[in-house]
Amino acid sequence: MEGGNEQKILFSAVQPSGAVTIGNYIGAIKNWVALQDEYRCFYAVADLHAITVRQEPSALRRNTLELLALFIACGVDPEKCVLFVQSHVPAHCELTWTLNTIAYPGELSRMTQFKDKSARHAENVNMGLMDYPVLMAADILLYQSALVPVGADQKQHLELSRDLALRFNNRYGQTFTVPEPYILKENGAKIMSLAEPAKKMSKSDDNVNAFVTMTDDKDTVIRKFKRAVTDSGSEIRFAEEKPGVSNLLTIYSVFSGKSVKEAEAEFSGKGYGDFKLAVGETVADALAPIQKKRAELLADKAYLESVMKSGAGSAFKAARRTLSKVYRKIGFYAGE
Ligand code: TRP
Repeated sequence: MEGGNEQKILFSAVQPSGAVTIGNYIGAIKNWVALQDEYRCFYAVADLHAITVRQEPSALRRNTLELLALFIACGVDPEKCVLFVQSHVPAHCELTWTLNTIAYPGELSRMTQFKDKSARHAENVNMGLMDYPVLMAADILLYQSALVPVGADQKQHLELSRDLALRFNNRYGQTFTVPEPYILKENGAKIMSLAEPAKKMSKSDDNVNAFVTMTDDKDTVIRKFKRAVTDSGSEIRFAEEKPGVSNLLTIYSVFSGKSVKEAEAEFSGKGYGDFKLAVGETVADALAPIQKKRAELLADKAYLESVMKSGAGSAFKAARRTLSKVYRKIGFYAGE
């Protein structure tokens, strides 16, 4: 079935759980755009994953539409890839149930993210939180994905997807493609907090100055970069002992399209103040057209809903092929 010139399948998803930071953009969305020409890409708004922590229903609904609009505004092209909302394709839940029967509570409760989230949401340690990686495996395996671009925090979950695929294949015969991580170009795989550069940039940081979101206006962006923590000394260069400056150089490089080396040369002899202002202005200028496009898309809800609908249709077709195969293999009675 896999012809030599058939495109490899790639799957990725982002949860609609509120603001999207420039770290999410650099680590995920920006790469999606580059990958859509090379692979057959399935990109999802992972709303089923989002409800494993409490969501305000009206906010979840709005965040889903806004995330879809942001993807498209950033250059994800619904004509080139399958862009859809996870809950619109019931096969994700159906395959999760089946995979649950070969997943062990021991391996799920050992997941780093489960342990972290259980500690952070001690009042709501639910079964979905523990089952999160199995749902993620279902996402990936349903489309026979060969590649999954993931950041460091999702590596362990991808490893579980591989284990479940192999376990199922061993028990029932070849059914799933075993996915490989797609290793992202090192530049930008990880953007650090502007306030504490040893920590990853996160929208759930208590300090709003630690992160920049895709919808922050120009003044806010510039103010946050002005406040960014730099390092001792005054040199602007990329070095392990200069995590703050290095993080800013990475961000500047991504948004200006210049290499880190070129950026270092550009700022040699300049002070931290000028440097931070330049980074802020560059980021704000790069975000402006994305924000404009996003606003235009959100004003055209009919269009966004048509994208969701056609994406769900294509995803459904591909997913159903795998699900039927799975159901046959495990012995569900299908009739004549
Ligand atoms: N769990 C991922 C995250 O929080 C989102 C996600 C859901 C995902 N399903 C996926 C990523 C499948 C890669 C593949 O970032």
